[in-house]
Amino acid sequence: MTQLPGLLDTEAIRKDFPILDRQVHDGRKLVYLDNAATSQKPRQVLDALSEYYERYNANVHRGVHVLAEEATALYEGARDKVAAFINAPSRDEVIFTKNASESLNLVANMLGWADEPYRVDSETEIVITEMEHHSNIVPWQLLSQRTGAKLKWFGLTDDGRLDLSNIDEIITEKTKIVSFVLVSNILGTVNPVEAIVRRAQEVGALVCIDASQAAPHMPMDVQALQADFVAFTGHKMCGPTGIGVLWGRQELLEDLPPFLGGGEMIETVSMHSSTYAPAPHKFEAGTPPIAQAVGLGAAIDYLSAIGMDKILAHEHAITEYAVRRLTEVPDLRIIGPATAEDRGAAISFTLGDIHPHDVGQVLDEQGIAVRVGHHCARPVCLRYGIPATTRASFYLYSTPAEIDALVDGLEHVRNFFG
Ligand code: ALA
Repeated sequence: MTQLPGLLDTEAIRKDFPILDRQVHDGRKLVYLDNAATSQKPRQVLDALSEYYERYNANVHRGVHVLAEEATALYEGARDKVAAFINAPSRDEVIFTKNASESLNLVANMLGWADEPYRVDSETEIVITEMEHHSNIVPWQLLSQRTGAKLKWFGLTDDGRLDLSNIDEIITEKTKIVSFVLVSNILGTVNPVEAIVRRAQEVGALVCIDASQAAPHMPMDVQALQADFVAFTGHKMCGPTGIGVLWGRQELLEDLPPFLGGGEMIETVSMHSSTYAPAPHKFEAGTPPIAQAVGLGAAIDYLSAIGMDKILAHEHAITEYAVRRLTEVPDLRIIGPATAEDRGAAISFTLGDIHPHDVGQVLDEQGIAVRVGHHCARPVCLRYGIPATTRASFYLYSTPAEIDALVDGLEHVRNFFG
């Protein structure tokens, strides 16, 4: 068995994930390499979800009965866990949403309805990058169409990194918001936050970071990032689907208007007007995803007990091994950084002229789950002149043996297609 420095005890960890024992396609061992799409869930999270429904289920912030109080304590306790996990200065800066897309849409809409000095209008500019997930492109396109603000973006270098050579022309005195991904879901690139934040701060622009592919994989410190907003989702970090997070700086959350209206987000309502509850409740209209928040809290407990620095080291070792092994496969072209430096645990590639959907299907027949397509980042495929990629993505339970299985599987794909 291949041993690499920095690996976690995956034999022990994998025992926590019942699904990893599954067999598919008539007895083939499942090799799950689609973690950037969603991670698997440990028993600890599954238990927290069923315990919540079996013992505590009630609506939050509303009732005076025992269950309502216990459910509220669990929901708000999950907020405390998220705040500690990302080193937020205050728990009131943590807003629960349903996913990272909703978090990013929330930021775009806060700014779209805001008064000065945050107001986005036809005199102002919005900056994103060409490597964004559609969820960090489309909300800004919608905002730009609605307000007349100009949408600008950083392009990409041939090796899959941000081209910041024209940073002073892209981020200008007119820029109101710079929104970019910390770790690309398609290229795996880890972006240079500091340089972008420094320039944004110089011109007084707000910074929003999409940390969907970062929060599950590395220690997160929103204070060190020096951003104004950070968005991520629970289901990629061992939590359930249906729960996302938007962290925002307290003074911004106090000043900015809500996006969705309804129950729970108000202070008073008359037939003529309403006043709003303080953040974070101002941004959480309606019954929130209670069980999902509790599940995310359990996921954070699970990941924290292992240690995010250890998870990062494990994934770095696995990614380094994967880059090395994939580079040996004839006709394989990595789309994105071709080294393990400054890269996360997702690797996209093409294999000769075999269509990625065919690659994915033949791998699936061997029990190997990867994602194929444009990965909701179609501008990246357009930039590199390819219709799609095959993407293998890893997590704390991924093993060198699974990388070997992928490489053998790709050999089989090449033979299959002659
Ligand atoms: N954003 C997820 C992915 O990259 C769904 O696959």
